[in-house]
This record gives sequence, structure tokens and C-alpha cells, in this order.
Amino acid sequence: MNTHPRHLAIIMDGNGRWAKKRLMPRTIGHARGAANVRHIVKAAHAMGLRYLTLFAFSSENWRRPPEEVSALMGLFLQYLESEVAELKAAGIRLRVIGDRSAFAPMLQSRIDQAEQETAENTGLNLTIAANYGGQWDVLSAVRAWQAAHPDRTLQDLDAQALAMHLSTADLPDPELLVRTGGESRISNFLLWQTAYTELYFTDLHWPDFDAAALGKALSWYAQRVRRFGRTDEQVLNPTPDGHYPLPELVIKKDLKIG
Ligand code: IPE
Ligand code: IPE
Ligand code: MG
Repeated sequence: MNTHPRHLAIIMDGNGRWAKKRLMPRTIGHARGAANVRHIVKAAHAMGLRYLTLFAFSSENWRRPPEEVSALMGLFLQYLESEVAELKAAGIRLRVIGDRSAFAPMLQSRIDQAEQETAENTGLNLTIAANYGGQWDVLSAVRAWQAAHPDRTLQDLDAQALAMHLSTADLPDPELLVRTGGESRISNFLLWQTAYTELYFTDLHWPDFDAAALGKALSWYAQRVRRFGRTDEQVLNPTPDGHYPLPELVIKKDLKIG
């Protein structure tokens, strides 16, 4: 039986279909989805989760109709404007991962400001993935490593060094990934970081995914046997010195486990 995951990641999918089912425009679904972010952040904080990472906009979502993209950008800006004071007061630290250089300067500066205003908070670590792609993250990490070590060759790059240059270098890998909306795929989310993550798929559309649904996902996670390549017997019979045979810890940049 596992305890709560330290890090929960969510692919918030199904806003469009939520709206379509109700004969409403997709943007209404996104607005309801944004409102649900508020509820789930609160619920995760109340449940004592340490890290929550939400996939809000993928590097492929630019392919959507321009009106939908601009509605999503507007909602992101609105979220930052309306929520940061409350996040700050609640002790929640907000970070954004993804290539923010593609965003309007106004949105970029609001993101910087939100990160700065909550940087000292030590409660829940909320990370929003926006214009994020797992392939972009891995490629950027390789490039950043090479830039930091111009005198070394890629033969010297190992998994730990690469992980230290990912956009998630300050976060532990997620133990649980939830995807709402009924699809069973990763859609270019945290590719490297989910190597051993438990994957939970639910048919609920994101605006319908409430605290009770979150509780159900966490109970499902609690039942998983995490083997990390070992056998059941190894996992169920800890070594004589009482150590549960956990995988080698990847030591990451500034990782504070609270
Ligand atoms: C998720 O909902 C939100 C984003 C990808 C930005 P969708 O908009 O993908 O909803 P569906 O999948 O079309 O129902
Ligand atoms: C994944 O949803 C991205 C986000 C939830 C932000 P999509 O709706 O973009 O995924 P696909 O296109 O169905 O794989
Ligand atoms: Mg979708």
C-alpha cells in the first residue's frame, strides 16, 4: 500500500467535449476547466500533496483554431490575475514550465511576477505546463547541458546530468499521472519524468473531475505495487536491515523534499 504520491501530474483533457455534450462552445468548456483548476489545487493542497503539475497547453495546441488559442491564452492570463493573491496567502508556490518565449509579452511578465510573488512559499508546489512538450524538454536539457559544459562531449552526458537540466529539475518525478477525458495517451507531456509513473485514465471530462474523483485516483494509486524492474518477491520482502528496495535516488538540482 502506497501513501499519497508526493508529486501528482494531471493531463486536464476533455473541456471541448464537456461543452459539446451541452451544446455550448468549446471556450465555455475551457472556462469551466479553468474554474476546476482552482478547485483541484485547493483539494490537492488540503490533501497534503507536495507537488501538483497541470498540463494546460501543449506545444501542439497551437494547431487549434486561432480563436480557441487566444481564448486559452486569455484564460491563462485571467487565472494568473485572479488567483495569485490567493495562492500566495495559502502558501502555494506557482511555477510555469514550457517555452514561454512564444507568449505575448504581457502574459510573460505576469508569469514572471506570479513566480516571484510566490517564490518563498513552502506549501504545495503548483507547476503549470504551458507551451510545454516532453520532446522539447529533453532536447532543451541536452542543449543546456552542452552549453554548460562546452569542453565535454555528449559521451559524458548521463541520465542524472540530463535530469538536472530539464524544466522539472527542481521537482521529484511524479509518482502518479492522471489523464481525464477518456484518452489513454501521454500527448507529449512529461516523457522523461514519467518513466516509472503510475498512469491513471478516467473518462470524466476535466470540468467534472472533482475532489471525490481525485480521492478515487489516489486510492487507486495506493493499491499499486511499484516494482521498478524488480520482482514482486523482492518488493514484498524488504532486506534484513529493513530497507525497502527503492530505486537509486536521482539527485536533482536544489531538490528540497518537504
Ligand atoms: C483540454 O481539453 C484543454 C486543452 C488541451 C487546452 P480539450 O480542449 O482538449 O478538450 P477535448 O479533448 O477537445 O474534449
Ligand atoms: C493534451 O490534450 C494537452 C493538454 C491537456 C493541455 P490534447 O487534447 O491536446 O491531446 P490530444 O491531441 O488529444 O492527444
Ligand atoms: Mg483534448
